[in-house]
Amino acid sequence: MLPMVDSQPVRARIALFLVFEATATGREAAMTINAQEFNQLAKTVFAPIYPVIARQILETTGIQGGCCLDVGCGAGDLGFAVLQQADLAVGFVDASAEMVALVQHTIDAHELQQRCQAVCSDVSQLEVAANSVDLIVSRGSVFFWDQPQQVFKHLFQALKPGGWMYIGGGFGNRQLLDQVIADFKARGEEERFRARIQRNLGTASRQQLDTILKKSGIRDYFIRHDESIGLWAVIHKDT
Ligand SMILES: C[S@@+](CC[C@H](N)C(=O)[O-])C[C@H]1O[C@@H](n2cnc3c(N)ncnc32)[C@H](O)[C@@H]1O
Repeated sequence: MLPMVDSQPVRARIALFLVFEATATGREAAMTINAQEFNQLAKTVFAPIYPVIARQILETTGIQGGCCLDVGCGAGDLGFAVLQQADLAVGFVDASAEMVALVQHTIDAHELQQRCQAVCSDVSQLEVAANSVDLIVSRGSVFFWDQPQQVFKHLFQALKPGGWMYIGGGFGNRQLLDQVIADFKARGEEERFRARIQRNLGTASRQQLDTILKKSGIRDYFIRHDESIGLWAVIHKDT
């Protein structure tokens, strides 16, 4: 059960940092992800990974409150996990209208309108005020971005001084990864799944991510990368 928070300050925080206007450019992007199928995975096989990743994010960044964006949020499971563990208002952003509808359904079902807002937009086009966001999280989406360098720059300007981004992909820890692999094996999809992990979370992807960050001009970052945790760029904006 998601927490229900009904406080004016949280609602004000939401209004401050996202501009949900008609300029948002939602699209069914050149993505092969089926929203319903992905949601099914997110709510079953992947379900245990989100609270673990959320904890890793909050422990690494030290963020305890303020405004958070989950970009490329899918059905919103990482953002909702973050919401359960910290006093954050969360904006959910995805290019897929179907994914955003799933997020909205959860917001409505748990009466989280005071604390959450969902918008359909390509992350590169997202209208977000400069210096307004404490934490930007994203799991499994960066691998789809057309111009990641520009997106990192765009998101970085949205961070408050002292804010953090935690962007990448992974399955939480070794045990959870093994469980997910076992599930894909049972469906006869182990090889394809392992190939995707290798492509997105392997050494070449790490090097690519490092290059992208360097080219984007972001200086204060580090990369967390190993087989257990996955591949994550952790970015800080100086105060
Ligand atoms: C693999 S799913 C991950 C979803 C979610 N973050 C999770 O971990 O459960 C990738 C998501 O990124 C979204 N996405 C890909 N490219 C995007 C872009 N340029 N702007 C916004 N969303 C994007 C897709 O629509 C999809 O929902």
